[in-house]
Amino acid sequence: MIRARGLARSFTARGRTVEAVKGVDLDVAEGELVGFLGPNGAGKTTTLRMLTTLLRPTAGEATVGGCDLLADPLGVRRRIGYVAQGGGTTGECRVQEELELQGRLYGLTKADALARGAELVERLDLAGLDQRLTKTLSGGQRRRLDIALSLIHDPKLLFFDEPTTGLDPQSRANLWEHIRRLRGEHGVTLFLTTHYLDEADSLCDRILVIDNGEIVAEGTPDSLKSRVSGDGVTVGVGEGTVAAAAEVAGRLPGAHEVTTVDSSVSFRVPRGDTALPELLRALDARGIAMTSVQVRRPTLDDVFLTLTGRSLRDAEQGAPAEQEAVHA
Ligand SMILES: Nc1ncnc2c1ncn2[C@@H]1O[C@H](COP(=O)(O)OP(=O)(O)O)[C@@H](O)[C@H]1O
Ligand SMILES: [Mg+2]
Repeated sequence: MIRARGLARSFTARGRTVEAVKGVDLDVAEGELVGFLGPNGAGKTTTLRMLTTLLRPTAGEATVGGCDLLADPLGVRRRIGYVAQGGGTTGECRVQEELELQGRLYGLTKADALARGAELVERLDLAGLDQRLTKTLSGGQRRRLDIALSLIHDPKLLFFDEPTTGLDPQSRANLWEHIRRLRGEHGVTLFLTTHYLDEADSLCDRILVIDNGEIVAEGTPDSLKSRVSGDGVTVGVGEGTVAAAAEVAGRLPGAHEVTTVDSSVSFRVPRGDTALPELLRALDARGIAMTSVQVRRPTLDDVFLTLTGRSLRDAEQGAPAEQEAVHA
């Protein structure tokens, strides 16, 4: 459904050039739900805007929904639905009007647009909200309306840019269900961007990790996690014993990446569960008391950390509000 080669885009502002996307290759097959995961500023929106014909690539080529991006942008537009980061509704329209307008934009007759709108209102759990001004909708309702709008012309390929950013956990879970249903019941192919690890992990068949305009890894969530070597173990120990504890941990078979923070030692081992009894015995033998212990299976954040040397969780603390302003 999507095939891109060497897709690149740079921006020049005030004499400074930013290479936002540096030659991205990607392939998405029919029926796949693919996530584009990366921190703020990684180049996700820029890539999506190129693939949806909203932004001209500086270099590269792509076929989207069977149409050539550069030679047949109109063909691409007819075949895709797009939900922009932050959504696209204006606020002063009613839900039904918004859907009707969108339908008319895609060449539907008024009657067809209204009928299609009514069907989508049902499908996205917006029943009873037809006459509401869109600005009075909750965050989750508004995102569902954005999705309904993107579906008005029955596209088989959808692009969602950060579909759940800014939503509370319950609305996010609800939206995930809708997204799964789009693929499961309606056979839609989905390409979505996210900076949420849990979203990529639980929703996507396959993930492309983007950082600094380049794809740094790709695979299923499990295959990505299996690249990280082993479980993470963190043990808390009594004051003044942390250096000795780190030494003990470092001698466990297969232990690596040993670090200490305050009175805790962290390291990786191939199997956390089998390493623990051994660690306990070794600490005991040195008279070191263990005050707490935690074993973690590798997460997508570990994958990101391994690949880029930075934690995506930290990047998440960044300033999404400022980043949004860039797109405005
Ligand atoms: N219109 C623009 N003009 C200048 N720089 C831009 C523009 N759009 C995006 N950028 C820059 O390109 C980089 C990638 O941005 P973006 O694609 O929005 O990232 P993401 O969606 O992953 O947060 C950032 O450094 C951003 O500041
Ligand atoms: Mg973005």
